[in-house]
Amino acid sequence: MPHRLNETFVEWFGEMFTGMDDWGSAYADRRWRIGLVHVQIGIGPQHVVPAMTNVVNEVGKHLKMAGLSENLRDSLGRICMIDLAFIEQAYVEVSLQAVMRETGWSEGLFKRMISTGASSVLS
Ligand code: HEM
Repeated sequence: MPHRLNETFVEWFGEMFTGMDDWGSAYADRRWRIGLVHVQIGIGPQHVVPAMTNVVNEVGKHLKMAGLSENLRDSLGRICMIDLAFIEQAYVEVSLQAVMRETGWSEGLFKRMISTGASSVLS
């Protein structure tokens, strides 16, 4: 794990289970902010994805050793993937906003350029 088990990390972990405001907008805002913090310090999605996999695997092992149900492990995997989606989306959103701000392009134009770019890489 790249993270020490510091206070914020432990809080993050706990919040997945308390759901803060029943997994509502406060929960979403908090996840969004965590994503932005990583974007700001330059930690790319390629690092966050394996880190989250470690969390799921390691915690899953403990749940298994404690004889807890497989449903619990499934739920852990799901909520971690939802959190991961928020963190990943922060990268996309920040990049999009930065390009739009710097170039004056619309979101539609940016997205068209991305799909055109993908088509030319694929062909
Ligand atoms: C499972 C994936 C990860 C989770 C859930 C996570 C969670 C967090 C949280 C909750 C914070 C505090 C955010 C705040 O201040 O509001 C944070 C900050 C930070 N994270 Fe992560 N992180 C993850 C992956 C990574 C990875 C892969 C790295 C480095 C390779 C990293 C490095 C940092 C650093 C340097 C900070 C700022 C200082 C600190 O609070 O330790 N994180 N992260």
